[in-house]
Amino acid sequence: MSALVGRRVVLGVCGGIAAYKAVHLCRLLVDAGAFVSVVMTDEATHFVGETTFSALSSEPVRRSLFDDTGAAGAGSSIPHTQLGQNADLVVVAPATAKLISAYAQGFSHDLLTNVLIATRAPVVLCPAMHTEMWEHPSVQDNVALLQGRGVGMVGPTVGHLAGGDEGPGRMAEPADALAWIEANVFTAESDLAGLEVLVTAGGTREPIDPVRFIGNRSSGKQGHALVEAAHRRGARVTVITTVDRPVPPGVERISVETAAEMHAEVTRRAPAMDVVVMAAAVADFTVSTVAPQKIKKRDGLPAIDLQPTLDILAELGSSKPEGQTLVGFAAETDNVADNAQAKLEAKGADLLVANDVSSDRAGFEHDTNEVLILSGRGQTHVGVRSKLEVADAVLDQVLLCRGVEAT
Ligand code: CTP
Repeated sequence: MSALVGRRVVLGVCGGIAAYKAVHLCRLLVDAGAFVSVVMTDEATHFVGETTFSALSSEPVRRSLFDDTGAAGAGSSIPHTQLGQNADLVVVAPATAKLISAYAQGFSHDLLTNVLIATRAPVVLCPAMHTEMWEHPSVQDNVALLQGRGVGMVGPTVGHLAGGDEGPGRMAEPADALAWIEANVFTAESDLAGLEVLVTAGGTREPIDPVRFIGNRSSGKQGHALVEAAHRRGARVTVITTVDRPVPPGVERISVETAAEMHAEVTRRAPAMDVVVMAAAVADFTVSTVAPQKIKKRDGLPAIDLQPTLDILAELGSSKPEGQTLVGFAAETDNVADNAQAKLEAKGADLLVANDVSSDRAGFEHDTNEVLILSGRGQTHVGVRSKLEVADAVLDQVLLCRGVEAT
């Protein structure tokens, strides 16, 4: 399996004749299992049409700092930083002298340079330019500077260049660039390989009548970030979710709506799992009698009788198979640590991830979270991070719980 499976890759395309090769590279990255977002510079569009990349990549091409559409930036006022922050890898192919210079100097004049400067992910450049430009001391100095900062360089190779010239400056072949990335970028151990992980995500909906329900504010973002992180780290992942979010290829996804449906699906699958993470916000109450027809206003105020749901986490905790690690979540608005400690003990979980859902940088809907992870060994505070980073911190604790140091 390619190390790129499930990775979020930003493919930056600059203006150069080798932009046509980036089309093939895009295709190879997608085929390797990556989620590829293409960022084109304005110059790149002189060489290859946006439509070509949009058709091949995982989401529409992005070009502008001020474009607020598309998966990574939807609904956000800062998509230029989000793309870089959420990436697992940024590849620029072809990388022109201008891009290399701007990146080396921290000059962020367009979306691609913003992505490069906002990311902490590995960056790989595939330079392509005329021999004279490649050999110019300023370009060579910038390349050395970037390499010194850990930026990967693939190529250029020697061969035919635009205009009939020949020499060093040709962009590496896409297959070679992919092979280099697979061999050099994601070399860390897949520390969850061999583990079966079940994650629940989203908030359940309890119907009142065919059009109304009792719901909660859970967006499913933290649960789905756990799915993505566990998959990237080599686990076989199943997600039982109430939200319509894409999952990486290879992840089994089961859609549910109500607490009862979630209970049934979790109960069926949990015994075979090594790790169960109950990140879903499961309703505590459901409607006793669901009206078969829409309740009409003209009939006056309805009385809605509620009854308790089954506590899935507590049930799992009381029948936990040997060797299974059970992770619960706690959504709290006050007394976070004390309430969470009580839940950890009451529900028989190995780990409890508590968040203050009233905070304005954590909890429901946000892309960031701040959590306290409790276990029998004590408490770990994870400061405000992206939900993907929080997911990795939770999985590190899962491994510690299982007696394996996270890599
Ligand atoms: N949970 C569950 N089944 C339920 C309710 C909650 O499995 N019927 C799980 C959640 O998935 C979460 C944990 O229990 O992992 C804690 O959920 P939370 O809503 O924080 O706490 P509750 O137990 O519902 O208690 P309260 O709402 O009173 O805080």
